[in-house]
Amino acid sequence: MSVAAARAHAAARSFSRVENFFLSHRAQMAERPAVADFTFGDPRDMALPGLVAALRARAEPRSVDWFAYKANEPEACAFLADVLAAELELPYEPEDIALTRGAFGAIRLAFTLLLEPGDECVSPLPGWFCYGAMLAAVGATEVPAPLAPPRFDLDPEAIAAAITPRTRIVIVNTPHNPTGRIYSRADLSALAALLEAKSAEIGRRIWILSDEPYRRVRFDGAGFTSPAAVYPHTLVDYSYGKILLAPGLRLGYLAISPLLPAAEREELRRIRFAAQMADGWNVPDAPLIYALPDLEPLGIDIAALARRRERMLDALAGWGYAMTRPEGTFYLWGRAPGGDAAAFAGRLREHGVHVMPGTLFDRPEDFRLCLTATDAMVEAALPAFREAARAEAEHG
Ligand SMILES: Cc1ncc(COP(=O)(O)O)c(C=O)c1O
Repeated sequence: MSVAAARAHAAARSFSRVENFFLSHRAQMAERPAVADFTFGDPRDMALPGLVAALRARAEPRSVDWFAYKANEPEACAFLADVLAAELELPYEPEDIALTRGAFGAIRLAFTLLLEPGDECVSPLPGWFCYGAMLAAVGATEVPAPLAPPRFDLDPEAIAAAITPRTRIVIVNTPHNPTGRIYSRADLSALAALLEAKSAEIGRRIWILSDEPYRRVRFDGAGFTSPAAVYPHTLVDYSYGKILLAPGLRLGYLAISPLLPAAEREELRRIRFAAQMADGWNVPDAPLIYALPDLEPLGIDIAALARRRERMLDALAGWGYAMTRPEGTFYLWGRAPGGDAAAFAGRLREHGVHVMPGTLFDRPEDFRLCLTATDAMVEAALPAFREAARAEAEHG
């Protein structure tokens, strides 16, 4: 007999590999700081000065209700609706926006709004490793749809094969963690056509949750199309945690599509706040809400990320690594020499170089590097990557 609910256990099972990696990584770092830490998308430099200044300024109360309960504050929602309308070229209105505790909060809100117990949600494989636990917590199930190497393109056929009469949501994550792919308008339109047909076939509307926290982390002037532009039944989630590289500050939103049929749009607008409250007051802390206009123009140095991407891709390709060239995100994704990422990660760790093995993404032959590591870390780590490739070539 267990004390905790079956859903909590299911969430814990789904999260266990990531949790174990997270905790053991922390313990190892406390014992012996890494030469180079390429694991999680965390900062390795001090925070952006503009971010610190905004937090300082907005923490100072200017009225008695400065720290009163906050909801979907009209000024902030109007600001974000304008930003989003310009960025996605869709006529968002303030009532379409729900302010949430990062993308995590927005994803949770989407699940609360759309999912019944027993529903299924199709997610990309490899893909972000928290969807499964978040779905389990609401009594729903993750159904992975594999992406094919080496390009890991959006694959409507794999998604079609994953759809059943219980499917309610298809998650599209663009730019994609961990491969860095950005999906084209043509690919998203093909998916939209498929989901229209499949929704008719199963007699139930299939939604897209467009998980876009890396939307502004793009290289080489790459464009961006949101699935919201091609499929009306799309909820968009966003986080400021990536572009500001400050995931410990929980600020994001869920946006209801302005292209939805009016009655459906109105229903979601009407209940969004109650759902946020029911999820545990899923609203950012007051100073972050006030700081939105200050934070909006800020961002980490994308050119520096792009330089690190080039440096590592060049070096790794020279030693025989097969890597996917990312168009956005913080990440590099590729095949571990020999195809055993856990062993590869262990070998690198002996040199003080920490990477994320693909076992966390159900692709045990691959690995992920996070480019938020500093230039100095990259240079210090490269010999270990060369050595790991050489050892594999020699001993197999
Ligand atoms: C694909 C994806 N979605 C959502 C999130 C959650 O973002 P946040 O922590 O900013 O809420 C992450 C964070 O790593 C992510 O990689």
